[in-house]
Amino acid sequence: MDLTATTAKQISDQDLIQAASLARTLAYAPYSNFRVGAALLDEQNRLFTGCNIENASYGATCCAERTAVYRAIAEGARRIRRIAVVCDQPEPCMPCGICRQVLAEFATDDFALLAAAPDGSFRMYSLEQLLPDHFTFR
Ligand code: THU
Repeated sequence: MDLTATTAKQISDQDLIQAASLARTLAYAPYSNFRVGAALLDEQNRLFTGCNIENASYGATCCAERTAVYRAIAEGARRIRRIAVVCDQPEPCMPCGICRQVLAEFATDDFALLAAAPDGSFRMYSLEQLLPDHFTFR
């Protein structure tokens, strides 16, 4: 699977989870050894992926979700329709608070987050479920 941004006619939820799993293999996580992958679709159904990127100064670490979002925005995306997140816990991986706020900035009205477990099973969450009454200027 090609992890660079492409215009995809139809990317299924399972495809998105597979892309997130592949992105996870690229994680730079020498401090926590906790590898996370994310894959998202923008408003044009373009695919962007991300992995967590850690730093010796721990606070400089960027989560997989934000890596994918910032990649997408830097390539011209303005809205995010769907994002899949994969880690290697038995339970599906949920985004941290900062990532939830970042997702809130760009989420479409029908946005969904797919929190996937390694066996491919996943739970789906709306933005309202992830971050109720989130802060915004709009
Ligand atoms: N991490 C993510 O990439 N996404 C999450 O949703 C939770 C945490 C990363 C940050 C850090 O590199 C490692 O997982 C441990 O917190």
